[in-house]
Amino acid sequence: MNPISVDETLSVWAHARDKDDRDCWVEHLDRVPVCDFFPVLAEQEALTRGSKLLSLSQWLNYMGERPHGDVNAELESRSTPAHVRLATATFQRWVDRVETLLRTSRLAHLPPKGVVQYFADHLAASILIGYRKLGTGAGASVELNRFLAMPNPDAYLDPLRALRVARTPSQLDLLRRSLYTRHKVVIQRNTLIHIDRERADDVFGPTIDTLFLNDWLHVHRYSRQRTLSSARFFEDPVSAEATADSRDHGQTFLEIGCGNGLLTASFVRNEARVRSFGAIDVSHNAISATFENVEIQRQLHRSSIAARGRFTIGSYDPTAVPNHSDLVVCNPPYVPKLPAHASDPGAHPLTTATVGTDLLQRVLRDCRLLTNEQGELFMISSTLAEPEIRVACQADVVVEKVASRMVPLDLEAVRGPHSKEHIEWLRTERGLDVRVDGSMFHNIAIYRVARQEVPSAEQP
Ligand SMILES: C[S@@+](CC[C@H](N)C(=O)[O-])C[C@H]1O[C@@H](n2cnc3c(N)ncnc32)[C@H](O)[C@@H]1O
Repeated sequence: MNPISVDETLSVWAHARDKDDRDCWVEHLDRVPVCDFFPVLAEQEALTRGSKLLSLSQWLNYMGERPHGDVNAELESRSTPAHVRLATATFQRWVDRVETLLRTSRLAHLPPKGVVQYFADHLAASILIGYRKLGTGAGASVELNRFLAMPNPDAYLDPLRALRVARTPSQLDLLRRSLYTRHKVVIQRNTLIHIDRERADDVFGPTIDTLFLNDWLHVHRYSRQRTLSSARFFEDPVSAEATADSRDHGQTFLEIGCGNGLLTASFVRNEARVRSFGAIDVSHNAISATFENVEIQRQLHRSSIAARGRFTIGSYDPTAVPNHSDLVVCNPPYVPKLPAHASDPGAHPLTTATVGTDLLQRVLRDCRLLTNEQGELFMISSTLAEPEIRVACQADVVVEKVASRMVPLDLEAVRGPHSKEHIEWLRTERGLDVRVDGSMFHNIAIYRVARQEVPSAEQP
């Protein structure tokens, strides 16, 4: 069975719109639960309010404010145009999925009410969602009560920009709660994670780098595995036969510097056959958060998926992690240190997560050991560190920049006694884009690194 392609989605859309066949569209959406399909609606000009075309975030805010009764009435009315009906059905199906993820999450410390940060497909929008769990046990349900959609993740990650988007008192309150709560609850592409910021103040992210890499891996890997023939690997719990199949024929994975654990959790939830995986971080709290976020993602026959994992607290060393994996991911610290102060201790608890290029270079140098013959290493880094990347790449690997994006620089990374000097050095020597209003931007890129097979010498 072939994976679902973009063309197939567009042809199902055209068919459903022409025949006004909502069921056929919703069936298609359900086949690919790792996508919300919002960007498809935007492309098809289906995000409307009356005759007015809206942007995705405007439409999400509009839909989020409407009473359920109005939405249902519009869905059932014969006078509603087919494309509006399909867009409304997509929104309702998305609300159902978010509610189900929250209701069925086995996270022990997930608060019964709070705010979720949701990141849409292709990072086309970020949405804050107020939620509340009702009841307990089998009859428990979840209610989503407020929404604030922003045009992209950068807007949310910069609270001042987010403040400009929030219009109503209820949206401002939602934003305030999400900024001040100790609980960070994130959903991206079918994976829900939770970090208790009070218990784990040195646990990094997820930030734009994490989200960008996770989204890319979904588009190019996990979404493609959602075929009818692989459906048995995604049952909950996975059957005895599929559990044994994945143990014998599954894929192996390693994350170096796992932080909050979103990238490992996403692999464990969305890769069809998971054979084994490893996660390493210097931070004890990061490994605890990763363990908690990973173990709830999948229930195998008579065991949790965590039984297939190796969680290591400590500084990266190739002897401390599984070698020869199918897939290795790494979002290392990448802001180069100011040369004159390269040995300064960090000024902030998160400095170890953002500043310095030692881990990045070690991982690139070890690529052949970390991956197997067909294996791939995906590293996300800033082009600020391009000289360090160039030096560390060995001749026996192929390095390809597969995607890049301009993003604001995380200010924590350059906080400290020499921050002015550091910023000036990054600007003049490494191309940091410092704007007149003082905001700073740089390019992040996903690097794919794989073994380069050296042709064997010809036989005489
Ligand atoms: C930029 S954060 C990425 C966290 C997470 N993977 C994500 O994408 O959100 C880098 C992580 O690498 C960890 N780290 C830094 N140096 C390390 C080292 N030498 N060995 C293992 N982990 C390290 C930090 O503690 C931090 O959690």
